Amino acid sequence: MTARPSLDDLFERRLSYPDIDAKDRFDLLVGLDDQKSRLTKILGLLVNPHGLEAWAKKHYHGIPDILAAVLRRPPLVVLAGDVGSGKSALAETVGDAVARQEGIDVTLFPLSLSTRGQGRVGEMTQLISAAFDCTIEEATKLKGSGGRSRGAVILLIDEADALAQSREFAQMHHEDRAGVNAFIRGIDRIGNGRLPAAVIMCTNRLGALDPAVRRRAADIMAFQRPTEHQRHAVLDQPLKQLGFTAANITAIVNATGHTKGRSYGFTFSDLTQRFLPSIVLDAYPDGKVAPARALEIAQALIPTAPFQDTAS
Ligand SMILES: Nc1ncnc2c1ncn2[C@@H]1O[C@H](COP(=O)(O)OP(=O)(O)O)[C@@H](O)[C@H]1O
Ligand SMILES: [Mg+2]
Repeated sequence: MTARPSLDDLFERRLSYPDIDAKDRFDLLVGLDDQKSRLTKILGLLVNPHGLEAWAKKHYHGIPDILAAVLRRPPLVVLAGDVGSGKSALAETVGDAVARQEGIDVTLFPLSLSTRGQGRVGEMTQLISAAFDCTIEEATKLKGSGGRSRGAVILLIDEADALAQSREFAQMHHEDRAGVNAFIRGIDRIGNGRLPAAVIMCTNRLGALDPAVRRRAADIMAFQRPTEHQRHAVLDQPLKQLGFTAANITAIVNATGHTKGRSYGFTFSDLTQRFLPSIVLDAYPDGKVAPARALEIAQALIPTAPFQDTAS
């Protein structure tokens, strides 16, 4: 085994909130109001339980027993669902909403497992353990003695499909199982230490979540492809600014949904990262974006295939 990776090796970019760029990105996410609000509240209470006591004092002149049930939740939230549906974007920006709501500073430690830990045997397990060590160390420093904590840490384990794989499947690679175990141990350490820290795990594999991970999740939030209404919300403003009429926009909203030959529509990221740039590049530098041409491009683009959430 090599030496424990340093903080900088582990997390490419630590983010601190409040941060106005994060707020802008958070506000731009369409159709996730329910997830945004739930996630902000859950994380807020996990990292700053005093918020709930203040609420109880204000509205009930005391601390009802029900608070214990709310506060005893495990320090994990799972964001699961289709690719390009805003899981990473939400996880990377919700810290700002938490910081503003609770009036504290929040730091995000982002670790993506897709690009990391696929090398040597034991590497993923070591990465996960080290990530939890760093998080716990930092959160321990922030935990005020008795009073309210001076700040909070969110650990983001992104692209965690390997960890979402159920330990129940015998064919699961030994290394993956060790990773799941390290993850579960880390969650328990944060919970037992009552630290101002919480973990967000993002995965495409809702169906294969390990029962032990499931049990430790305060909430599991599902993410889906945009509905017609949500596609409209994403496309309306940018296309209007290009001079498209309401009818032009409706035609494109329809073309990016289910079609005759296809049972699924575009993902959010298909719309923002593929379709919109394509129509601009197509017109650039000679002329304007023509609505008929944009519709053709929408019809020709093949949306990202849905993630096949088979259990193996
Ligand atoms: N709900 C949404 N509203 C607006 N844009 C979105 C939404 N979801 C995703 N996008 C766009 O797609 C990009 C990729 O999304 P991402 O969060 O990485 O997806 P995931 O992690 O679920 O695969 C985002 O940066 C954003 O530009
Ligand atoms: Mg992602």
